[in-house]
Amino acid sequence: MLNNSSDIFSHSNLLDDIPLIDLQPLVRDNNLAIVAKQIIDACKNHGFFYILNHGIDDDLVNKHTLNMKRFFNLPLDEKLKLDVRHSDAHRGYFPIYAENNDPKTSIDLKEGFDVMAEDNLYDERVVEKKPFYGPNQWPDNIDGFRENTTRYYEAMTVLSMMIMEAIAVGLNLPQKYFSNKLDGPFAMLRMLHYPHQSGPISSREMGTGSHTDYGLITILFQDDNEGLQIKSTNEGWINVQTIPGTFVVNIGDELQRWSNDVLKSNLHRVINISGNDRYSSPFFFHAAYDTVIDCLPSCENSNKLTNYTPITAGELMWQRIRATFSHHEDL
Ligand code: OGA
Ligand code: NI
Repeated sequence: MLNNSSDIFSHSNLLDDIPLIDLQPLVRDNNLAIVAKQIIDACKNHGFFYILNHGIDDDLVNKHTLNMKRFFNLPLDEKLKLDVRHSDAHRGYFPIYAENNDPKTSIDLKEGFDVMAEDNLYDERVVEKKPFYGPNQWPDNIDGFRENTTRYYEAMTVLSMMIMEAIAVGLNLPQKYFSNKLDGPFAMLRMLHYPHQSGPISSREMGTGSHTDYGLITILFQDDNEGLQIKSTNEGWINVQTIPGTFVVNIGDELQRWSNDVLKSNLHRVINISGNDRYSSPFFFHAAYDTVIDCLPSCENSNKLTNYTPITAGELMWQRIRATFSHHEDL
């Protein structure tokens, strides 16, 4: 049994601080060098950093937050009309305890809504039922929901591409190295609602169990109700406080793998004991489905040994979704 003291909330010390990176040189001046170095330094350590001056409009983010509240406040039977289990392409709503990020240890007290790029029904990947390709499921009773969510998705895609350019430069690759490996985009925007957890907090029930993310990078919006914690190098957990106007960015397994462990995909989890409902929205950015994740040319060891077997980005993501959503267990 955990309580609300040090086992959940260990305090960060200076070494543990999560860097705050000002993206202005990248976003406004297309000056990658400074930002590239800061990102790479951050990603060799915790694999997490905040971004400021990222160019995403406040109004877009505020409407996105409001839409999350309006959506999750709908009656359960309304939300279940958009059940992700009805979708061949993993789009839509999932209720509390449907996805468990650390299924051997804990169940997740969260509900969510997944959106990906809108694929048209005649797209051959939809016809072939390739995993993740298909139409989104949208609520029809929330004004402007689809429009704002689509704009938010597009803005996150542009920002992710920019951050990937900085990462390329930081890894001594050409700025556009990733461009033709990211098209699509192959990315998932998730909206999350964490009810407040009360009473004795048990490690059997988390907001989100301890996990690493699957993709290249995640750009996370979190509201004022804190709950995200990342594993510190000295074994404790660090609270990721909300800094208004910033997003939290972290590296996922796909980029750790591609970079042959140069960049770190760090463990993290969520426990919401803020006293309020907590809303957050990660944008999981992946390489295009068929991109082979092998070893980036600048990340080979001196003896050319690599730490992983090559796999496509799509297969990597599908393996992980299958492992964390119980309705895919039998596939
Ligand atoms: C995730 C995640 C953090 C949060 O969904 O992978 O780590 O604050 N979310 O919701
Ligand atoms: Ni995560």
